[in-house]
Amino acid sequence: MCGIVGYVGPRKASDVLIKGLKDLEYRGYDSAGIAVVDNNRIKVSRCKGKVAGLERIVRKEKYDGGIGIGHTRWATHGAPSEENAHPHMDNKHEFVVVHNGIIENYVELKRKLIREGHRFRSDTDTEVLVHLIAKYARHGFEGAVFRAIQNIEGSYAFGVISKIYPKMMFLARKDSPLAIGCGVNEMFMASDALPLVSYTKKIVYLDDGEVAKVEQNRLQVKNLKKRIIRKKIRTTNISAQDIKKSGYKHFMLKEIYEQPQAIEETIKGRVFATKGEIVLDELNLPKNFIKNIDRIIIVACGTSWHAGLVGRNMIERVIKIPVAVEYAAEFRYKDPLILSKKTLVIAISQSGETADTNGAVKEARKKGAKVVSIVNVLGSTIARGSDGVIYTRAGPEIGVASTKAFTSQLVVLYMLALYLGKIRNSIPSKEIKRRINDLIHVSAKLQNLLKGFTRSQIIKKIALKYSKNKNFLYLGRGTGFPIALEGALKLKEISYIHAEGYPAAEMKHGPIALIDANMPIVVLALKGRRFKKIMSNIEEVASRGGKIIAIASVGDNSIKKYVNDVIYIPDDSGIMTSILAVVPLQLLAYHIAVARRCNVDQPRNLAKSVTVE
Ligand code: G6P
Repeated sequence: MCGIVGYVGPRKASDVLIKGLKDLEYRGYDSAGIAVVDNNRIKVSRCKGKVAGLERIVRKEKYDGGIGIGHTRWATHGAPSEENAHPHMDNKHEFVVVHNGIIENYVELKRKLIREGHRFRSDTDTEVLVHLIAKYARHGFEGAVFRAIQNIEGSYAFGVISKIYPKMMFLARKDSPLAIGCGVNEMFMASDALPLVSYTKKIVYLDDGEVAKVEQNRLQVKNLKKRIIRKKIRTTNISAQDIKKSGYKHFMLKEIYEQPQAIEETIKGRVFATKGEIVLDELNLPKNFIKNIDRIIIVACGTSWHAGLVGRNMIERVIKIPVAVEYAAEFRYKDPLILSKKTLVIAISQSGETADTNGAVKEARKKGAKVVSIVNVLGSTIARGSDGVIYTRAGPEIGVASTKAFTSQLVVLYMLALYLGKIRNSIPSKEIKRRINDLIHVSAKLQNLLKGFTRSQIIKKIALKYSKNKNFLYLGRGTGFPIALEGALKLKEISYIHAEGYPAAEMKHGPIALIDANMPIVVLALKGRRFKKIMSNIEEVASRGGKIIAIASVGDNSIKKYVNDVIYIPDDSGIMTSILAVVPLQLLAYHIAVARRCNVDQPRNLAKSVTVE
């Protein structure tokens, strides 16, 4: 949700900023801008639309300065427009600010500042920040930043530079992410580590309530009481290659094809089939606590929430205690009932920065629950704010529609279920070994499945057939239901086709009224204890003229009689089959979106990391 970048050093700041904004564009892409201090003045370029448009403008201008900030926006306050694009300047053109987050008390601050003579040029909440800093300028740069922070409420990660102090940049954070890259004789900052890794692997993550003074050769971090804080410099394992398309047309396609590797990485060094052992290093839960857990609540948003629904089935089956799955935003604001210290909350988040999930984590811990997070981004806010963490090692996910993070989350949830089950003795060790074995083989099976899809082009052909339809229904039973929800979400997100996921049995309580010859219905119809029931649902749809695309078990030839199209997957991996089942749905959404000429990696109105509530 908005990406910010900054640079201080010997390079041409504008080059670093534009490149950084391109790497951050997945966080927002409705307008962009940069500001550079050049020859004792602040030079700003902004435009509506993507960073490529800004790049054209910046190329025409001569930008020479070595200190600057940039922003790519996902609008919250004020429509996407040049005026509302960041950076924002004060009236004397002495300070300039980029900001990610929401200043919640901006209306009253703005009124007050206007009364004091400040003139506003945008509808954004951010602009109050730069006027506040200008208002307090007589207290020095640092003093002005601290005073401005005392006035604002809400969430922020911001960067500010000034023509009066042309060698330093101030940064501050509360509830929005901010990373600082420490180079040799140069410093970088960004909303996450991705744009930094082309220059340096040494990253400092700012924590809430911290303010950083960044100079070419120096970084000083203070807390809000102005006490200096010693920060840990982390070495990131993200490589510059990870954030390239590597020959794929879209990041989403690359990430779909990276899933076998992501799964492999996620289980590496953590599962041991012969011993029936699982090692989760940073889980940080005492054995005694695990033995006494009486309730588990999973909190997440979007795709991660769907992973939570699959995870519930995994955990309930293995450790046989009740698991609730809550939307993080609903959980945090409903005054959740955490009645004992025996509650475990599991927070799932690809980015580790989602504001609602982070809020839910804080609320759960405040009420006495232990929180374990399942997160993809190393050192992210949610990971740091939890009692323990299990990282999905999917690598950077850039496509806005989540794919490899989802399947890696399922793998982690399964490992967690088995780990807890072993300690609680709720599952025989022979069974654990068998399940670990299933887990180990999922990656290779997925690799083969993907190869088969590439060879046959079956999904692309089906996609072309249905790409003009306006509505889709996705049906599944048991674990097939969350997979249906995820398939429908992928289609909505990137192709803008209305799609609904339903438990197949619920179809007759409403959605059946929608079925006609123009309604494709994707049905998860794998062999297993629910197969007969699903087949009855398929017949109900067929008799009403609906067009059925089935995800079926390899070898089930008879299903062809009842459906229009079939995509086969192997189904011998128990609950892990959900991983194999979701992949054709990701590809179906992808090919439909490409056929409709949609922007697959940057769908309209969406952002990858939602750091506002
Ligand atoms: C946004 C993204 C989704 C993602 C959701 C939760 O809506 O577009 O792809 O599933 O946020 O994100 P998280 O990083 O917490 O998993």
